[in-house]
Amino acid sequence: MLPDEGSRKRNKVRLATEALQPGMVTAEPVLNASGAVIAWQDRELDEMLIARLQGMGIGNLMVYAREVVAAGREQAVEWHAGKSPEVFRRQCEADVDRFKDMFLHISNGGALDLETTDLLVESVLDMSQDKGSIVDYTLQIRGVDAYTYEHCVSVSLISLMLGGWMRMQEEDLESLVRAAMLHDIGKGRVPLNILNKEGPLTEREYKEMKKHPELGYHVIKSEVKPDVSFAVLTHHEREDGSGYPLGFRADQLRISAKILAIADVFSAMTANRVYRKHVSPFRVFELMQNDSFGRLDPIVLDVFLKNIAHYYVDKSVLLTDGLKGKVIFMNAQDYSRPVVQTERGFVDLLGMKNLSISEVF
Ligand SMILES: [Fe+2]
Ligand SMILES: [Fe+2]
Repeated sequence: MLPDEGSRKRNKVRLATEALQPGMVTAEPVLNASGAVIAWQDRELDEMLIARLQGMGIGNLMVYAREVVAAGREQAVEWHAGKSPEVFRRQCEADVDRFKDMFLHISNGGALDLETTDLLVESVLDMSQDKGSIVDYTLQIRGVDAYTYEHCVSVSLISLMLGGWMRMQEEDLESLVRAAMLHDIGKGRVPLNILNKEGPLTEREYKEMKKHPELGYHVIKSEVKPDVSFAVLTHHEREDGSGYPLGFRADQLRISAKILAIADVFSAMTANRVYRKHVSPFRVFELMQNDSFGRLDPIVLDVFLKNIAHYYVDKSVLLTDGLKGKVIFMNAQDYSRPVVQTERGFVDLLGMKNLSISEVF
């Protein structure tokens, strides 16, 4: 049985000082380097005391688990609205089919079908309440052939969520979703043998593939507003200038391109690509935090990770040492290392670099 946070013997968890929140309660006296007491046991933390502990360089301390669990539940609270997963999935599947027809039309040299684009954008905007289903859907993308179609729908859904968290205006959100839906439409003009190739691309093939933002821009530019076509053109640009096709840097990129870049990376990393095995979302958080450092906008990335990580509070997980548990609290310093409740007690992964989450159920 998992330890119950409400049991008479109060469970404790060691938390990094940066993860402390007002309302948590010390489970042991907190001492400074010379052994003097800074806070007694059973002391409820407030912002002032937390700031003081951080200022004094206290690395971590024991708090009672009950308040940590409660704080975790609060983190997770916004994830429970929305329609049933089956209804959501059916709507996504219909959108993927619609998108597929539109994509194939462009592959055959046709122009952008504006009516279908409008329908797709409307459908995605309608799903703004289904955040939990959006994450599930994004993580379950399989099928090799369907990859581009599902990917574009999933990037639209993720962009919609992230745009909402960034407090974008409704009109800008609509443009963002339109750009997200069309961001890889230029792949319709990339030779099929390259687009669907199993295994890594050769240098020449990769060069062809990298033309897709420009190809897409030319397909849509006379049909959509400039902010949409510009976002499509720049979705592979990176903050440090290492992206393509223009090599733009942070200050040349609009917020829509920054959001698209993050949604695109998340979707690509979580999907079961032809040449890479499916990876756990916590590994994706780690990769996005570390590998994308300097390449993705740090503020937008933090908003994204903070919000999406909370979806995993309460999820069952498997740790790399084989122990099963439940995520109870997200550490804002590193979203890939939450506090996990296991049958052997509470584990704060932030302080345990040799242990991590290998699977989520
Ligand atoms: Fe792309
Ligand atoms: Fe993409």
